[in-house]
Amino acid sequence: MEDLHVEGDGIELGVIGCGKMATALLLSILRSTSHLGTPPKRVIVSVRTSESLKRLKSILAEYGGQVEFLVGDNVRVANAANTVLLGHKPYMLDSILGADGMAEALRGKAIISLLAGVSAKQILEKVHQIGDTTRTSVLLVVPNMGAHVQESMTVIAKQSTDTPIEVVNRTVWLLQHAGKVSFVSESLFNLATVLVGVSMALTTVAVDGMLDAAVMEGMPRSEAQEIVSQSLIGVGKLLANGHHPAVLRESISSPRGCTIRGIAHLESRSARTAFTESITLATEYIKGMGGYQE
Ligand SMILES: NC(=O)c1ccc[n+]([C@@H]2O[C@H](COP(=O)([O-])OP(=O)(O)OC[C@H]3O[C@@H](n4cnc5c(N)ncnc54)[C@H](OP(=O)(O)O)[C@@H]3O)[C@@H](O)[C@H]2O)c1
Repeated sequence: MEDLHVEGDGIELGVIGCGKMATALLLSILRSTSHLGTPPKRVIVSVRTSESLKRLKSILAEYGGQVEFLVGDNVRVANAANTVLLGHKPYMLDSILGADGMAEALRGKAIISLLAGVSAKQILEKVHQIGDTTRTSVLLVVPNMGAHVQESMTVIAKQSTDTPIEVVNRTVWLLQHAGKVSFVSESLFNLATVLVGVSMALTTVAVDGMLDAAVMEGMPRSEAQEIVSQSLIGVGKLLANGHHPAVLRESISSPRGCTIRGIAHLESRSARTAFTESITLATEYIKGMGGYQE
């Protein structure tokens, strides 16, 4: 883990909307800092309903004493924190940030936004009044579900505005507990958003296809899943170490072997083009949603 000279006890973390993604991040932070380093000085979380509060309390049970839970009191969360994670759905931006007292509570704070397709400008417009010179920082962040196992790929948009280095380091420090963190230029942030999330989802389609075949051949699905998932961990680590995918594929394909037959069939079905088009389509779609824009 990178030493960013950040102490957890300087962080008051507020989480507004703690669903699947924010919970995975929070759990990683609490789990990791309880073993090494100092946990955040304060963690305060709000959700909308008492049902999800119950669910959240049970997931975070081990760290319950470190977290204050609230239902529907987002302004109190923003007031209590110096770092506010927005973990609600993007379409809720207007209602949540437009609530009475919210803009004042957020002004001057560090805001970490998980809201896919929402720009920093859109958030700052909600927080600042015209002519207001308060310095509020917004960092746009896209993690993925790998956070559940401390293997998230999290991208942060490089800002053209000046975000204080202390805020950037604090954000990276928090997120690196959930996995790897990288900065991506704003011109490529829509694509990075898609790669982070969609690549995971697309891979599961390939996995399901392979598992179906295994079941047809007589292997229980769970057994096949264990084999395929470990193979994916291996390929992931090789690719992360810089192995070229084509070279890797060729190195596995022996003459007259089964691998080359499988690959040739897949290529004859235009699988590679289908993956390319899926990423391109998803990127176009996110741009249409408003996309990232400075
Ligand atoms: N899921 C992913 O893989 C992923 C990846 C990257 C980024 N993201 C981003 O993460 C954000 C959350 O996605 P998610 O999948 O975690 O959604 P989710 O599970 O539906 O979580 C949304 C959370 O927002 C809460 N909420 C709803 N209305 C609220 C309100 N008025 N005040 C306070 N909290 C409120 C919900 O509480 P209730 O349950 O009580 O309504 C829930 O805790 C989205 O902006 C998404 O773009 C998600």
